[in-house]
Amino acid sequence: AVTTVEGVGSTKTKLHPIQKRLANCHGSQCGFCTPGMVMSMYSLLRNHPEPTMEQITAALDGNLCRCTGYRPIIDSYRPFSAECCPMKGTGGCCLDKEGSISCSHEGDRMCSGLCKPEEIHYKDPTQDYIFPPELMRVAKQMQKKTLVFHGPRTTWISPASLWELLELKANYPNAPLVVGNTSMVLEMKMEGVYHPLILYPARIPELNAVCYTENGIVIGAACHLAQLREILITVVSEQPEEKTKVYRTLLKQLKTLAGEQIRSLASLGGHIVSRGSTWDLNPVLAVGKSILNLESTGGTLQIPLNDQFLTRMQNADLRPNEVIVSILIPFSQKDDFVSAFRQADRRKNALSVVNSGMRVLFKPNTDIIADMSIFYGGIGPTTVSARKSCQKLIGRHWNEQMLDDACRLIVGEIVLSPSAVGGKVEYRRTLLVSFLFRFYLEVLQELKKMYPSTFPDLPQNYMSAIGEFQVTPPQGVQVYQDVDPGQPPQDPVGRPIMHQSGIKHTTGEATYCDDMNPVDGELSMAVVTSTRAHAKIISIDVSEALKVPGVVDVVTARDIPGENGTEDERVYADHEVIYVGHIICGVVAETYEQAKKATEKVKIRYEDLEPILTIKDAIKHNSYFGEEKKVEKGNVEEAFKTANQIIEGEIHVGGQLHFYLETDSVFVIPRKEDQEMDVYVGTQYATAVQNTVALALNVPSSRIMCHTRRVGGAFGGKTTKPPFFAAAAAVAANKTGRPVRFILHRQDDMFIPGGRHPLLGKYKIGFMNDGRIIAADLEFYTNAGCTPDESVLVIEYVVLKSDNAYDIPNFRSRGRACKTNLPSNTAFRGFGFPQSGLTAETWIAAVASKTHLPHDKVREMNMYKGASATPYKQDFDASSLTRCWKECLEKSEYYSRKTASEEFNKQNYWKKKGIAIIPMKFSVGFYVTYYHQAAALVHIYLDGSVLVAHGGIELGQGINTKMLQIASHELKLPLSYLHLSETSTVTVPNAVVTAGSIGADVNGKAVQNACQILRKRLEPIIKENPQGKWEDWIQAAHQQSISLSATGFFKVYVTNMDWMKEEGNPFPYYVFGVACSEVEIDCLTGDHKNIRTDIVMDACFSINPAVDIGQIEGGFIQGLGLYTMEEIKFSPEGEQYTLGPDTYKIPAVCDVPEQLRIYLLPNTRNPMAIYSSKGMGEAGVFMGSTVFFAIRDAVAAVRKERGLSENFTLDSPLTIERIRMACADDFTAMIPKDKPGTYKPWAIDIE
Ligand SMILES: Cc1cc2nc3c(=O)[nH]c(=O)nc-3n(C[C@H](O)[C@H](O)[C@H](O)COP(=O)(O)OP(=O)(O)OC[C@H]3O[C@@H](n4cnc5c(N)ncnc54)[C@H](O)[C@@H]3O)c2cc1C
Ligand code: FES
Repeated sequence: AVTTVEGVGSTKTKLHPIQKRLANCHGSQCGFCTPGMVMSMYSLLRNHPEPTMEQITAALDGNLCRCTGYRPIIDSYRPFSAECCPMKGTGGCCLDKEGSISCSHEGDRMCSGLCKPEEIHYKDPTQDYIFPPELMRVAKQMQKKTLVFHGPRTTWISPASLWELLELKANYPNAPLVVGNTSMVLEMKMEGVYHPLILYPARIPELNAVCYTENGIVIGAACHLAQLREILITVVSEQPEEKTKVYRTLLKQLKTLAGEQIRSLASLGGHIVSRGSTWDLNPVLAVGKSILNLESTGGTLQIPLNDQFLTRMQNADLRPNEVIVSILIPFSQKDDFVSAFRQADRRKNALSVVNSGMRVLFKPNTDIIADMSIFYGGIGPTTVSARKSCQKLIGRHWNEQMLDDACRLIVGEIVLSPSAVGGKVEYRRTLLVSFLFRFYLEVLQELKKMYPSTFPDLPQNYMSAIGEFQVTPPQGVQVYQDVDPGQPPQDPVGRPIMHQSGIKHTTGEATYCDDMNPVDGELSMAVVTSTRAHAKIISIDVSEALKVPGVVDVVTARDIPGENGTEDERVYADHEVIYVGHIICGVVAETYEQAKKATEKVKIRYEDLEPILTIKDAIKHNSYFGEEKKVEKGNVEEAFKTANQIIEGEIHVGGQLHFYLETDSVFVIPRKEDQEMDVYVGTQYATAVQNTVALALNVPSSRIMCHTRRVGGAFGGKTTKPPFFAAAAAVAANKTGRPVRFILHRQDDMFIPGGRHPLLGKYKIGFMNDGRIIAADLEFYTNAGCTPDESVLVIEYVVLKSDNAYDIPNFRSRGRACKTNLPSNTAFRGFGFPQSGLTAETWIAAVASKTHLPHDKVREMNMYKGASATPYKQDFDASSLTRCWKECLEKSEYYSRKTASEEFNKQNYWKKKGIAIIPMKFSVGFYVTYYHQAAALVHIYLDGSVLVAHGGIELGQGINTKMLQIASHELKLPLSYLHLSETSTVTVPNAVVTAGSIGADVNGKAVQNACQILRKRLEPIIKENPQGKWEDWIQAAHQQSISLSATGFFKVYVTNMDWMKEEGNPFPYYVFGVACSEVEIDCLTGDHKNIRTDIVMDACFSINPAVDIGQIEGGFIQGLGLYTMEEIKFSPEGEQYTLGPDTYKIPAVCDVPEQLRIYLLPNTRNPMAIYSSKGMGEAGVFMGSTVFFAIRDAVAAVRKERGLSENFTLDSPLTIERIRMACADDFTAMIPKDKPGTYKPWAIDIE
């Protein structure tokens, strides 16, 4: 039986407490990840009814959310924990109370917590499905029977006995055994490997048995890794410590191996046989001298799991007719020391970059090496052994001389080519010896424990090299101002109302584009994309593709009856391809699989042209979009002459992929008449979709009806690209006369549409010795990719926002968008500011380092204060910035924590803490006035119910929730009367893009306008019957022929920018914020832990504090990803390598700071916007830069202690590799360096 989220609970039956709680605590935004979160928690509770908080966070390790920042999800599940409180079982929970809203009636009337106080019984047995007894009975009956399933291409056999399996293996030696299918599936999907017969051995008792022998434990090969963990926990608790060293090491690796979902599926036998280079258990099993018990019809055999097996040497491997029945993992001995290490791009649910298993056996009661083995994964295609080095060390004492020799031997033996797949070559080489050093210390420590009088204590400052970070589950604080005490309780404005779709997100009832039911005649589309970065298309041969069963047609540029996109960006490539990923044609078939298969048969001949890939190349070839954009104030050159000091430098900021959980999706359905077409699409800009489709089909826009109910995350990425995807599908639908569904698969969605612009920022800064900056000359280049998209606008924003929060009297900023043959980069939350702001903070940090002044002092001294003007002469009041700064200093206890972190750093040589506080001036909106218009349509029906429509689109940011709050306030009507269905070009035409943080501002004004019109119409009726009910008034209005439908419109926010004069008022208003983050770094591996972040944000009057805080938290975590982990990699030929969650890491639960505290500044107002609010959609992203600068602070402490230059620049993202290599030491010095230009690197730097 399979239980899905629909089975856990639904609005039609009853909600499960997990669902209720998650919605109530604002744990969903776009909702696309939410069913997954519910199911992970549900599975955990079914297996562990009273889990610990550690188990709860571990259960979510394998789930990703791109919107919320995870904190509310963890918080909502906290009461399910056994550690929660003594009120357990009473239906209440003290922690729940803490998470619930509590408000002070004194002073500023501040509230904390966001969950609606509600009686939730955390355990509700009525909601738990009983495994169907009927199925249990059938399973029992079938236990001894072989099961055979025949598919159209593959037969699947599950034998009931070992002998049967062996016979099958003898007859079909090429048939693989599949248990978890977590490794096989990759071969089948990625490499197209096909197996006509698959054997499933998991029901065979021998393959599941666990037994103890004299030498160790024997574990059945089909045991899952989650079972293995439970088995090892039991053995470790029962056996003497000295016998379980290998088991404890395996347990350590199992903690971070994949996520719970994979661990529950993957088998030990599958892990061993698939032997991925970075698999974490194999190095430990190998050093532990594990034995594989094989069987075939010919008999039994035992082979060691050693280096020869791991490198698949023929005489040391399984033969095709053999299976692993079990694995003997021997007990360790008293003088054995075993350990394992791994470092991944993300701490949880990420394959290791390098891992290792190490073991040393000493002669009894000595530190003389009797035997030693070291295995490394992640270096080359298989797990490798440092066998020769280890042999040479036998007989040596365990001392520093041995360590030094061991490092040199290993660096000589374990070789990694400078062109190695995966890159990070110097880093990976460094980890070889860094791990060894850690092992050396661990063993010394153990020796001391075992023989206290023989071995010396470990020097205190070495202790910090040992051990992993201890991480506690994240906790949060949310503080905001209460509504006016006079506000009626039913008026929802200003209150933390639940997301309009919150409940439906948690039950899986919220539908997205691809959830639409199939319609008659529907076809699926898959696209053929260019494999060349720049080439002429010589020919397209589709003849073989058309022969694939199920294929209906292949669509190319020639099939477009109207316009093929724009001059700059085509729907289908015409004669030339301009990047790897350029869509050339679309195959439509009865199923997606058929269409996909056929795309592989389309033959394209190219004539290669020279590509431009990097910013450096683009500058060299003068390859740009648009002109240089510049703003200047004061006299920069003169100021440089009077400056005490001048510094120059540059920073490279990497791009970012949107990685919205719902990939680009469109479903077009032609209507039978008048060339009408319905387009269901995940977009932020329905009007652009409508226009592009209409132009492509050469029909008036009035024939194209676009509909978007909700989008599973967008972050700017669903602005300019969906129109092209929709047009591609519409052309196919037009040609075939059938509905076409075009859902980009994750891989396609990661390299076809582009992402955030990578940036090169150059600076020259003149400053006085007291830290005052008197001149800044900045130059920016973005890698725009192959089409203009919004890149010129982005570089303009980079330039306009490059002062961040600093008042520099003489300031010049220039920027250019580079045209290259990479995916066309587009809008992304923050729109250039996250890159430009990071540059500003980099030159501020450089000034602070040069003047040896505290960084916070240099920031504070140069910040805008009071009445101010930007370099482009827009006046603004910076007093809220100062207030945020002061409040953040105080709330974060910055100074005392700074002192504490300095103290920590003195005591710990190999781990360092860092702290940074950063101010922000974020501009919302656009400098084009007409982009601030919005419209709404509100209908009141005769039963009194109200339907609200507006031009904004629900992307997860809560716009619909806010619109309903506004309508409720204006109509003076409870929320229960109001409904909001979808955004459509039919109800609200010509809506502008939902972006720039102002969606709720402008659409809110339009909804307000419509509701005020209606309320005004009703006023005479209400006056006549003031005691009447809403329903009575509506009936009366209808009888008096008063229209109960109104459109609302908003057209203010006058903005402008005159680039010739370099001045204007480009932004309606600014959002101010200040954040402080603290981190700890591991100097040996480059890993870091996010300890605490405090954010103070000037949100003014928040229409919905839960939504706004959700945006701040989610933005912050997305920024943290941008600045510390998300890295896009391209080949020297311009092909993107990072194509899925395995290669591109976005933050997961493990990356959330242990303390995440958000404070909305009280008593501020923004008269520009509705109800004096401010748009919070994007500002949070930049707050993630505080983590970047906290890491920089920690790295600076390392470098200072080691006598390295303190004037250094770190590029973004500040990955494990960059952190480790910035903490240069004896180990990095040992590593051979490859001279650039003497080899072809695996990946290129594009920024
Ligand atoms: C998302 C994801 C994340 C991952 N993260 C990690 C990680 O962090 N660390 C890590 O170490 N690994 C990781 N892995 C890899 C994982 O450990 C392996 O895929 C898994 O252990 C394979 O087990 P399986 O049962 O699924 O093998 P299957 O895919 O079912 O089989 C794999 C191979 O083993 C053979 N086989 C299976 N059982 C036997 C047997 N008894 N006798 C002979 N041959 C047999 C099969 O024929 C097949 O060739 C990850 C995998 C995924 C998909
Ligand atoms: S709410 Fe988690 S991905 Fe959108």
